[in-house]
Amino acid sequence: MAKTTGAAKLSAQPIVRQMQLADIPAVYTIETASFATPWTIDIFEREITENTFANYFVIENEGVIAGYCGMWLVIDEAQITNIAILPNYRGKKLGEKLFAHVMEQAILAGAYRLSLEVRVSNLPAQHLYRKFGLVPGGIRKNYYTDNQEDAIVMWVNL
Ligand SMILES: CC(C)(COP(=O)(O)OP(=O)(O)OC[C@H]1O[C@@H](n2cnc3c(N)ncnc32)[C@H](O)[C@@H]1OP(=O)(O)O)[C@@H](O)C(=O)NCCC(=O)NCCS
Repeated sequence: MAKTTGAAKLSAQPIVRQMQLADIPAVYTIETASFATPWTIDIFEREITENTFANYFVIENEGVIAGYCGMWLVIDEAQITNIAILPNYRGKKLGEKLFAHVMEQAILAGAYRLSLEVRVSNLPAQHLYRKFGLVPGGIRKNYYTDNQEDAIVMWVNL
C-alpha cells in the first residue's frame, strides 16, 4: 500500500468553511435533493451578497461539497435557516460537524440564543438538534406550504 502523506491525511478530513458564490451550484444540488420546496439559486445569491445578517457555511469532504448550513445573526439572536447534507453522505457525522461549527460561530459572535424550525415528522433533524441541547419551545401550525405540516420551534441558550 502507498504511504499516506501528511497532506493526503489532511485533505481526507472534512472541513467547514464559509460558502462562496462559486459554491452555489453544488449547494443547489443538495437543496433540491433535500427539501420539498427548495430555495432557488437566486435566493442563495441574495443571501450571500445582500443579506448582512446571513452567514452560510459548507462542509467539504474529499473535495466534494457534501452539505451546507445557513444562519441569520440578528443582534444577539441566531436563527438556523437551513441545514442539509447530500443524501449519499448522510449518517457519517457531517451534519453534526457542520452544526457544531455553526453553533460555535454563533457563540463567538456573541449570540445568547439559537433557534430554528423543524418539521414535526423530521425525526433525524430533531435528534441532531437535541444532541446540541435544543429543546422544543412551541409549534407553528401549518408552517410548511407544501403539505401544511406543523413546525416545532426548537431553541437553546448559548
Ligand atoms: C438532518 C441531517 C442534516 C443530518 O445530517 P447527517 O450528516 O446525516 O447526520 P449525522 O450523521 O451528523 O448524525 C448526527 C446525529 O443526527 C441524528 N440523526 C442523523 N440521522 C438520523 C436518522 N436517520 N435517524 C435518527 N437520528 C438521526 C442522530 O442524533 C445523530 O447522532 P448519533 O449518530 O450519535 O445518533 C440530514 O439528515 C439531512 O440533510 N436531512 C435532509 C434535510 C433536512 O431535513 N434538514 C433539516 C431541516 S430542519
